[in-house]
Order: sequence, then structure tokens, then C-alpha cells
Amino acid sequence: MKQMYLLTFIFPVLWTAFATSLTAAERSEMSLAQAFERFFPIGMGIGPQDLNRPKVWQLVQHHCRQVTIENHLKPSLVQPAPGLWTFERGDELVKAARQAGLRVHGHTLLWHRQSPEWMVKDSDGRYLPAEVVLGHIRDHIQGVMGHYARDIHSWDVVNEVLADGPSPSDYRQSDWYQAAGFDYILTAFLAAAEAQPQALLFYNDYGLETEPKRSRALRLIERLRAAGARVDGIGIQAHLQIGSPPIEEIGESIRAFAAAGLKVHISELDVSVHPWRRVGSELLDEDRRYEEGLTHETEQRLAQRYADLFRLFMEHHQHIWAVTFWNTHDGRSWLNNFPVRSRVDHPLLFDRQLRPKQAFSAVIEVSAESP
Ligand code: GLA
Repeated sequence: MKQMYLLTFIFPVLWTAFATSLTAAERSEMSLAQAFERFFPIGMGIGPQDLNRPKVWQLVQHHCRQVTIENHLKPSLVQPAPGLWTFERGDELVKAARQAGLRVHGHTLLWHRQSPEWMVKDSDGRYLPAEVVLGHIRDHIQGVMGHYARDIHSWDVVNEVLADGPSPSDYRQSDWYQAAGFDYILTAFLAAAEAQPQALLFYNDYGLETEPKRSRALRLIERLRAAGARVDGIGIQAHLQIGSPPIEEIGESIRAFAAAGLKVHISELDVSVHPWRRVGSELLDEDRRYEEGLTHETEQRLAQRYADLFRLFMEHHQHIWAVTFWNTHDGRSWLNNFPVRSRVDHPLLFDRQLRPKQAFSAVIEVSAESP
């Protein structure tokens, strides 16, 4: 009770007084994990590149309470051929994280990308019978969750199974869906609950910040639950842009998912400084204006965007399970190659030299406010 009182009333006052009294230089030394301790854990998506660079690994340990393994637990990396389990790289990352006292979030048991073809097709490229595919899913999930049962207690069970944009079906028409329909998603959640009854089970996707995917996700969760599956949380990937989507939209999604009784993981947060302009379905690629660095104005806009986002997350902190950045620093971001190959982006809080950006200070300052 006393602890509760200290945490709710005394700590915020002391923290605000402390954080606002710091100079800019002192703020740049602060830890994100500490700054947001009273709201939610901070995480980052990591890979061997981060572990092998001592300065980056130090940054991860300083700023995070948890990590997501970016690639090395995905199906094609842990079971490239039937029964051939290749856990070595994943083990190294999990072990290093655990030794550093970091919680590890499992990503991902099933995905239409980075999954080996043998799970869904025969050697002539024909879909396997649904029952065979579902058997592969069960074996795979038991194998991976069993292997990491001691160290990983939360998993993205399936990733990105929903359709984008206008679509007659809620579901992505992936090989998995072609081969086994909705049952492949259901089987994955049932198998995960059976493999590790205590683990938190998440659905993870991009575009959940807006419609139509917000409602599609809610329908998916409802259908899974109606069929007897347990879904504990939802990963809003939050691959955002500097100008969109609007903060109110993102808030709308957090509230809708929370109302459905889901924990919300902001699971792959980054903010591209490039607008993604489309003509029809074509992405325009003329925005190579930040090759040498950000302009002062864009640096400030990015800081403002991050401040707005963290204010929103703080406002909903009771429902936010964790906020995970994708990835550690600007040089490591996938956005330097997506949606346009080798176009420089600056989507994170740390630049290529691992220096905290204005966006970092903005976020630290926000942490001192009352939600
Ligand atoms: C998706 C996946 C991640 C990662 C990113 C690109 O969001 O969920 O695992 O592959 O794409 O880096």
C-alpha cells in the first residue's frame, strides 16, 4: 500500500522536479528505461550486429528493459528444413539479453515472409493438404516455444495476417491462407497456448493505427476468441511517418484494443522522415533529400512528432505493455532500404554515431509531465 502511494504520488513529483532541473547535456545522458519506468518498459529490436558492437550493446542496456529479436527466431531461421532446428544465433542473442537482465519478447512464431516453403508446399510447389500444414504449425510452435520456455514468456504468435487497403476479405491471401484458411491462425494460437500456458500471446501487424486494419484486427481477435483461442495482446507495429497518421487515429486504435481487453505493445516503433507519396500503387522515390543529414526544421518536426507520440502512450500507459523501437539507431534501420532501396532515413532517437537526437531530448522532457 505504502509502495503504491510512493509510486503514484511522491515519485512523479520528485521525478518531474528532477528531470526539469537538468541541463540539456545531463538530459542526453539519461536512460529511456528509467525515464519511463513508471509508465511502461522500453524495448528495441536487436540483431547480432548490435551485440557485436560494444557501444551499441551498451546503448541497448542503458536504455532498455526488454528487447525483441529482430530476425533470429523467425521460422526460416530456426527450422529451415523439417526437423532441422537451428537455434544457435537466436540462443546467443537471448542469452546475452538475459545476462544483461533484459526481458526478451518472442518474434515471431509464424509469418508469410521469412517462413520456409516446405511448411506449406510440396516439392512441386503445390499446396499441401490443410491437415499437413496445420501439423507443421503445431510442431514448429511446440519446438520453438519449448526451446525458449525458460527465457521467453511473451510471443508474437502470428504476424501480419490481415489484408491491406480495400479488400473483399479481412485476410491476407498468403500461401498459408490459401493452404489452410482461417484455421492456420487459430491453430497457431491454440498450439501456442498449449505449448506454454503461462506465456502472453500477441497478434502483431502494421497499419493497425488506422482503418481498415483496426476493425479487421478487432474482428480477427473476436473470431479467434469465439473459436476458443486465447489472445492476450496486440502489437501495433507503429512504422509511422513524420506527418501521418494523425495522433488522434493512433489513440483511437489504442482505446479500441484496450476496450477489447488487449494489452497493447507498440512493437516496432520508428518514424520515417520521408512522406510515402503514391501515384496509384506506385511509390514515388524522389525524396532523397536527407542523404547528408536532417535539416534543422525536419529535426524539430521529428522531435515534435516523437513528443506527441510519447504523450499519447503515457496517457494510455495502463494499457501499454511496452514500447519497442525498431531498431537501435538510424544506421541500423530497415527504412534505409524501404520502401526505396538505399535511401537514407533518420527514423530513430539516436543518429548513426549513436548520438541522441533532438527527438531523444524531447521524449525525455515529456516523461517528466503528468499523463
Ligand atoms: C515487419 C516485421 C519485422 C521486420 C520488419 C522490417 O515489420 O514484423 O520483423 O522484418 O518488417 O524490418
